[in-house]
Amino acid sequence: MKLQGKVAIVTGAGRDTRGIGRRIAHALAGEGADIVISDFVPENASAAAAEITEATGRRAVAVQGDVASEADVERLFATAQAEFGHVDILVNNAGITRDGLLLRMTEEAWDAVLNCNLKGAFLCTRAAAKVMLKQRSGRIVNIASVMGRVGNAGQANYSASKAGLIGLTKSTAKELGSRGVTANAVAPGFIQTAMTDALSEDLREQMKKQVPLGRLGTADDVARVVLFFCTDDAAYVTGQVLSIDGGLFM
Ligand SMILES: NC(=O)c1ccc[n+]([C@@H]2O[C@H](COP(=O)([O-])OP(=O)(O)OC[C@H]3O[C@@H](n4cnc5c(N)ncnc54)[C@H](O)[C@@H]3O)[C@@H](O)[C@H]2O)c1
Repeated sequence: MKLQGKVAIVTGAGRDTRGIGRRIAHALAGEGADIVISDFVPENASAAAAEITEATGRRAVAVQGDVASEADVERLFATAQAEFGHVDILVNNAGITRDGLLLRMTEEAWDAVLNCNLKGAFLCTRAAAKVMLKQRSGRIVNIASVMGRVGNAGQANYSASKAGLIGLTKSTAKELGSRGVTANAVAPGFIQTAMTDALSEDLREQMKKQVPLGRLGTADDVARVVLFFCTDDAAYVTGQVLSIDGGLFM
């Protein structure tokens, strides 16, 4: 039990049972952490919280909200503090795509993706920093993407948001490091979730061929690495970006 007595907020953890956020919440609870599930969709957040408590016996609280809304993020952290009295781990996982080629990309599609993926992480990180600096300890893990490192045709908004998240991770690591707070990022490659289910079978096969390990990843592949960053095993690791992509980017 490497996270006994810890409290973790995981954003975008409501989706379905294969969602990356939900699997991360499970992995953290499996090591003894109590969990605050934040998601845009209230019934998914509640279902995830109930499932985690049933599977692990840990307390799990669901809070509906939009990570891109300052008021919602304040309510999320206020609820976590009221329920548990401290916040030790923040996983910025909520993320969306609105793909389209650059020339046809609308301002709305740009704003929606940057607001959720990058501004959302900023608002949650700022709220977490207020708590963690006082505690003089904390772990922040950002879910970036291989696309933030290599770029992708049709994903200018998404790639920019994930590259931005890497910059946010490193700046956070530098600002908060002296107070015992670490900030790291993971960069998943092609992971089997609802996000990639939306792609054609053809495209998924093409993706597989590019991966040295020869398969798409699972949400649990990502969750295990995030768990590592949240434990004392990674106490002297900060500002890092670790790929979880079967060797796609090296
Ligand atoms: N699936 C992949 O191949 C892959 C690869 C690299 C990175 N990622 C990243 O991993 C994270 C999770 O991806 P996933 O595939 O599980 O996605 P998903 O679409 O299955 O889940 C995303 C969750 O975020 C929630 N959400 C969306 N907008 C929100 C908002 N504004 N506020 C709060 N919650 C919001 C959704 O309701 C959903 O539960 C994302 O940041 C994604 O960019 C995914």
